[in-house]
Amino acid sequence: MCGIVGYTGRRQALEVAVEGLVRLEYRGYDSAGIALVEDGGLTVEKRAGKLANLRSVLAGRPTPWATTGIGHTRWATHGAPTDRNAHPHTDCRARIAVIHNGIIENFAVLRAELEGSGHKLLSETDTEVVAHLLEGFAGQGLAEAMRRVCRRLEGAFTLLAVSVDEPGVVVGARRNSPLVVGRGDGENFLGSDVAAFIAYTRDAVELGQDQVVELRPSGITVTDFSGAPAETRDYHVDWDASAAEKGGHDYFMLKEIAEQPQAVADTLLGRVGPDGLLTLDEVRLSEQELRDVTKIIVVACGTSYHAGLIAKYAIEHWAGLPCEVELASEFRYRDPILTRDTLVVVISQSGETMDTLMAVRHAREQRSRVLAVCNVNGSTISRESDAVLYTHAGPEVAVASTKAFLTQLVACYLMALYFAQVRGTMSGDEISEIIDRLAETPAKVSEVLATVEPVRALARSLAGERCVLFLGRHVGFPVALEGALKLKELAYMHAEGFAAGELKHGPIALIDEGLPVVVVVPSPSGRRVLHDKIVSNIQEIRARGARTVVIAEEGDSAVEPYADTLIRVPAVPTLLQPLVATVPLQVFACELATAKGHDVDQPRNLAKSVTVE
Ligand code: F6R
Repeated sequence: MCGIVGYTGRRQALEVAVEGLVRLEYRGYDSAGIALVEDGGLTVEKRAGKLANLRSVLAGRPTPWATTGIGHTRWATHGAPTDRNAHPHTDCRARIAVIHNGIIENFAVLRAELEGSGHKLLSETDTEVVAHLLEGFAGQGLAEAMRRVCRRLEGAFTLLAVSVDEPGVVVGARRNSPLVVGRGDGENFLGSDVAAFIAYTRDAVELGQDQVVELRPSGITVTDFSGAPAETRDYHVDWDASAAEKGGHDYFMLKEIAEQPQAVADTLLGRVGPDGLLTLDEVRLSEQELRDVTKIIVVACGTSYHAGLIAKYAIEHWAGLPCEVELASEFRYRDPILTRDTLVVVISQSGETMDTLMAVRHAREQRSRVLAVCNVNGSTISRESDAVLYTHAGPEVAVASTKAFLTQLVACYLMALYFAQVRGTMSGDEISEIIDRLAETPAKVSEVLATVEPVRALARSLAGERCVLFLGRHVGFPVALEGALKLKELAYMHAEGFAAGELKHGPIALIDEGLPVVVVVPSPSGRRVLHDKIVSNIQEIRARGARTVVIAEEGDSAVEPYADTLIRVPAVPTLLQPLVATVPLQVFACELATAKGHDVDQPRNLAKSVTVE
């Protein structure tokens, strides 16, 4: 995810762009850059690292007075976060500048074509091809050139371009990536979200899929990619500039919970080839190497460890491979049996967690291969591992992991299916069926988010409690652990997750009159026995006075008599249920902590990236 801002009007465009980037920096801070168009010239400045690096460069040199410009803050996808890969990128003549958010999936083909016709590309990014493609249509006007280029692009993108030949014009395009227009008086704005221009105007225009917008000080023109006039929606933003850094949410955590449908969709994007087969190109292990694997050990910490526990069910069920799951902080202090045929899968959002990094080094010292599931491009763990499967959650700012967790699950599901494909443990049709179900999950997560208000009310009503228990079976067990972890770290409450079948072996002694117990119920259409056993467990705890909060699939009527509070989630295959069942638990913890007056973005004693052992 990157932050994008564009401006044309009467103000100093540099100031507007930099102020917009300050508000968008949460979207990525690998590098930042601006391009300004003044009469007859283009000024481009860009620097790796945080926006502060760019600002200090800009402060140290005179910049032209220009009233048209674009700015970018980058979360690197293609190419390391260097000055050279920073946006904007220009064409051969440095007359057109382009910034981009998203992934252009066919960029390699386009790049080869451009290089074959004499274009010299300077960066490793997918974005630069767009500047060179636009150059090819230079005589046709920037907006028309953009439409023609967009028709050739595959993937997800928001693009902004300016050209020396059209001072006063900014052209934007979007497909599966956000772009909003801000309407001013004699000036207009573009941004990845309204935060970019909220200091100047609250009148916004929502652009649709596959649209191109031409921005001039006097107005905007919006078309589809073929040039036909397109419909847009005007709206008024009803929150103030101070909330803008969080994209309109009170907390980054709330924003990140809301972003989950998109994060899940982004992580699924581009993983299936035209032949319907999974193509995990980034997994730089040959099919033979994958076939040679005899055991998988998943190693991670905290929430990422819970993703690993769920991955175990998928790997064993789909790929038929033995799988162990280890806490990274324990892994290297015992004597794990590792061979060349053991694949160690490490899961880390940040890619910098020291416990996990040490596990990577330990595994490699034992000659095992390491595959990292990671959210941060170029992080230490991704660099030191043999292979990387990136999640595309975008930057996660809140300390408590939410959207990264869901995308880790998606990556692990894809990995398990890929193993199944390579090892032939599932047919192509069976794999396609699961991929189709996975493709439906962003919409199902949106459904959960749209109906979550009763969960908030429940959380507020429980703010005075001292303890909450969470129960689950099968993949619902790690979901219960994750629900308890969220509550501990945000609400500072005693919370425990248990495998429901373990209750009778001890924890049931904790059940007391009125104790809230959250139970994650597996789908009745999956393994019926799992469902029926947990319904019995609910009855057992209820008989002992527990206040039951039951998370169950829509239409599961068997749980109704035993639920003091019933939270419905959409029906999905059992193995995928954590994608929908975790979301109400995140909302529950966040709301309960907020009701207690806690800052959910910065819980006490915690840090986002734990770089000590
Ligand atoms: C909890 C949380 C932590 C992290 C853990 C691992 O909400 O965020 O438990 O999951 O510190 O971090 P990564 O995934 O960056 O290695």
